[in-house]
Amino acid sequence: MRTEKIFAGKTLAILSGGGDTPAINSSIESVRNRASMLGFKVYGILRGWKGLLGDGDVVDLTNIPYNGLYGGTALLSSRTNPFPSKKNTEDRSQQILRNIERYKIDVLVTIGGDDTNGAARQMYEKYGIPVIGFPKTIDNDLRTHTIHRYQGTDNEVVLCPGFASGAWAIKKMTSKLHTTNESHQRIMVLEVMGRDAGWLTGSAIFGGAQVALVPEVEMTRERKEFFFEFVKEKYMRSPKHSLIIAVSEGVRWWDDEKQELGMVYASSDLDEYGHPRFGGVSGVIASEISKHIGIEARGQISGYIPRSGKCYEYDRRLTSTLADKVTDLLLRGDYGKMPVMKEIVPYNELEEYHTTSIDMGNVGNFPLPEDYYNANEFYFTDKYIDFLTNIIGEPYRMEFDNKFPVVIPQ
Ligand code: F6P
Repeated sequence: MRTEKIFAGKTLAILSGGGDTPAINSSIESVRNRASMLGFKVYGILRGWKGLLGDGDVVDLTNIPYNGLYGGTALLSSRTNPFPSKKNTEDRSQQILRNIERYKIDVLVTIGGDDTNGAARQMYEKYGIPVIGFPKTIDNDLRTHTIHRYQGTDNEVVLCPGFASGAWAIKKMTSKLHTTNESHQRIMVLEVMGRDAGWLTGSAIFGGAQVALVPEVEMTRERKEFFFEFVKEKYMRSPKHSLIIAVSEGVRWWDDEKQELGMVYASSDLDEYGHPRFGGVSGVIASEISKHIGIEARGQISGYIPRSGKCYEYDRRLTSTLADKVTDLLLRGDYGKMPVMKEIVPYNELEEYHTTSIDMGNVGNFPLPEDYYNANEFYFTDKYIDFLTNIIGEPYRMEFDNKFPVVIPQ
């Protein structure tokens, strides 16, 4: 029996960049374990691309215990862009090349969204660095070319590690919010991360949100008027006079004062990939609802909750499955690629034979398709519900159904 390690003497390095998710450590552990078995020495680069600038910041992961269930990233993260941007006009890619040589890195695995993997693609295309991209984002908007089969049709959707954990957290959080909201018979506007795509916002309806707004559908002046009427009616018809409206942080909302469509920012300062920081649209929408329809409304920002805590089981298995595909790419020396799921499958069918790899030149962003969200009903369609049920199970909501008999004074 052949026992030699195929990649003995070679080094594979892993980095993680961009916003964290609960599935990054699981991705790191899964890739590390497989690369070690193939014989690679495995390094971790700290703080994304930043760890390859200057003198570099690199640790050895080869024989160290690694807790893949713990959320976030033990390799730390940053939004460092090696290539020139508005925020930093310097081209630092030469520093990266120098450190790849100094640390004798043979293969680089970059765990990230469109930004981190876009930079990795450039390192591959411009300088021939052997990279393998690994998808990651709770926004779930990094194009993975995954097919969702629904009632005999093939639909392109997205499935990125991190999304399942985030969606599960939003489902749980929404389902809890009903108790306080019902007690005050309010409208609650729940803000969910998602700068340009509503994939994650949809998970709130799995916890019982009755209305949703997404960045893909602009809330123009006319649509806002229609929306207020719709919300009023929906609230009046709701059995407990309680309504939860889920909104993506990046929803395009008509600003009555400025008389233009805009987004609500927590900070307009741009990161190195040109993104401002969103936050606060739920408060704006809640106060406009109160003003326009006279029903008490509150804003609630879910913020970093979906990005925090343990890796959810679907993501745990998804990251292992995609790491199996990384093994395949390594064995074939096939670089400039990203492992992805070919199709949406439930938890127990997550296996390597459902994966494929895509050219990193084909990554980019992919928003919610039109038929996954019903703009007239401000709600997600059955197609979306089928898609997400595969990943986080059936919608769930706590209910207190008592109808107390009314006492009439004698
Ligand atoms: O990575 C994407 C994301 O989670 C967005 O949904 C959100 O707008 C952003 O990160 C927030 O990032 P930060 O951690 O820089 O506040």
